[in-house]
Formats: sequence, structure tokens, C-alpha cells
Amino acid sequence: MDNEAILEIAEKNAWMTDVDRLVNLYWALSQVLVFEVEGDIVELGCHAGGTSVFLQMIIDHFDPLRQLHVYDSFQGLPEPGPPWPDPDSPPARTAGSSCRRRSRRRPP
Ligand SMILES: C[S@@+](CC[C@H](N)C(=O)[O-])C[C@H]1O[C@@H](n2cnc3c(N)ncnc32)[C@H](O)[C@@H]1O
Repeated sequence: MDNEAILEIAEKNAWMTDVDRLVNLYWALSQVLVFEVEGDIVELGCHAGGTSVFLQMIIDHFDPLRQLHVYDSFQGLPEPGPPWPDPDSPPARTAGSSCRRRSRRRPP
């Protein structure tokens, strides 16, 4: 699969996707297929199928027997939920925060 194919699909489906998203999808799906992760492939929210065509091209290239299933509610996108993380809640502790070295005061 060459860069021209990615650029062509990005151009045809420009109102739904872009080159960066397609490249991410390419790497994610190709790795699943190359490393023989078992199972069918599912696209949730396929709309008119612009990205579905791209997913099928990747499947055809790496593992043509793999099944692609596409679904859509055709209800559009839901209203956005509340902002996350909640700006009023205290900052979450991360693994890195407990490892942070405490600064030592220099002796006077
Ligand atoms: C931005 S469009 C998808 C574009 C498509 N993936 C493409 O690249 O051409 C989002 C789609 O997700 C669908 N959708 C949103 N919520 C959904 C849900 N809970 N279940 C199924 N489809 C959903 C919408 O109906 C809409 O068609």
C-alpha cells in the first residue's frame, strides 16, 4: 500500500478524516494483522464508509481473509459531555508524581 492511496482517500473523505488519522489507522490495523492478533475488525461509526474502504484496503494487503464489520447508529454524534478532567476536582496523582525527587534545601 503506497502513500498515494492514503492521500487519495484523505482527499475523497476530507470532510470526515485527514492524513494523520489515516496514517494512525494504518499503523494500528497493520500491526494487528501483521502480528496475527485474532478476531474480526470492527468500525463503530462508519457513516458513509469512507474510512471503511481504507480499512478494507489494509486488510486486503495484509490478511485478506479477515472480516471487516461496519456499524452506525445514523443518529449523528451525541452532545459533548462535561469537561474532563473536572476543573474543580484536585489534580490526580500519577505514577510519576510519587517518584519525583524531593528537593533538598541546601544547608545555610
Ligand atoms: C464523524 S462520523 C464517522 C466518520 C467515518 N468514521 C469516516 O471516517 O468516514 C461519526 C459517526 O458515528 C456515528 N455514531 C455516533 N455515536 C454512535 C453510536 N453510539 N453507535 C454507532 N454509531 C455512532 C454517527 O452516526 C456518525 O455517522
